[in-house]
Amino acid sequence: MNILGLESSCDETAAAVVTDGRLVLSSVVASQFDTHERFGGVVPELASREHLRAVVPVVEQALAQANVPIDAVAVTQGPGLIGSLLVGITFAKAFALARKVPLIAVNHLEGHIHAVLLEHPETELPALALIVSGGHTHFYRCEPNFRYELLSRTRDDAAGEAYDKVAKLLGYKYPGGPTLDLLAPYGNPRAVKFTRSKMSGNSLDLSFSGIKTAVLRWTEARDMTAEIAARRALRTLREPTLADWLATTPQTTLDLIASFQYTVIDELLSRVRIFAEDLDLTNVIVSGGVACNAGLRAAARRLPYNISFPTPQLSTDNAAMIAAAAYPRFLAGHRAALDLRPKANFSLAML
Ligand code: KG4
Ligand code: ZN
Repeated sequence: MNILGLESSCDETAAAVVTDGRLVLSSVVASQFDTHERFGGVVPELASREHLRAVVPVVEQALAQANVPIDAVAVTQGPGLIGSLLVGITFAKAFALARKVPLIAVNHLEGHIHAVLLEHPETELPALALIVSGGHTHFYRCEPNFRYELLSRTRDDAAGEAYDKVAKLLGYKYPGGPTLDLLAPYGNPRAVKFTRSKMSGNSLDLSFSGIKTAVLRWTEARDMTAEIAARRALRTLREPTLADWLATTPQTTLDLIASFQYTVIDELLSRVRIFAEDLDLTNVIVSGGVACNAGLRAAARRLPYNISFPTPQLSTDNAAMIAAAAYPRFLAGHRAALDLRPKANFSLAML
């Protein structure tokens, strides 16, 4: 059973062919980093246009690499940017119609969970899932038969968004997570103490906008104009290396970055501990772009649970996870009609 998966919910146009939800025959991802870099974040209108440009060549490449007959096409229905989702959905409908194959709609977050199940099929449900990316920071309890319970979520910025905004204000490139992750080990994680937000209602919900603002205030309290300008100038000359970043980043800034990373990881993993203990869950899935974070992976592995991460290629947005998530749904008889519409706010708990 070969499923062609399509993903276009944010700033990656991706297509993949996966056999039986397990074997990745091809996985092609066209990122739009260069388009959005100068804005320091994703510009929805530009993202849609880039998807339109990329979708045909990306699918052609995925099909050519896999070189097998396709039995069904799966597409991300949401959550995501409406114009971006529309490109993938429209393409998938046309493909389903032309090739006379079934169309399967997939929730992007269920896709992130399957990025882990794809590589760790031994993971048993129920499991605790942390989806942590540029758009999401959500904890779910996952049960068999596509049942998900939302346990907590960010009330404002996603963790990846906080990384991107902090990196931007410090003069690093977009997306900022990978650069700050590389620099964090060179600083003292205890140097800057960030005030933790107290949540009304669900006290286990998260907030990352306060940390971002605290970093902004920290930079404003010091004269960092020249330092930040030097890093911005460097980016216009060449693709900076770690050595370049280290040469333009004083120790105080490295300490700030290490403390920021320490706080974000602690906010996430303290909740993993609470949910795992309270709900008696030993299997933990961590997925989404921020799951690439080396500090998060190292700290998570020290916890006494069975924690699984996807490989970095499957942590960030991709279509193999969409094709993998579609497979059990296909077996359960789920089919989408050709009037399928995108859902910008598609909650996993609503499925
Ligand atoms: O899952 P993803 O590709 O797209 C969304 O659905 O958002 O995640 C992208 C996000 C960006 O915010 C990026 O900065 C962050 O993941 N990210 C990281 C790392 N690698 C990517 N954040 C922290 N550490 C990393 N190593
Ligand atoms: Zn994602």
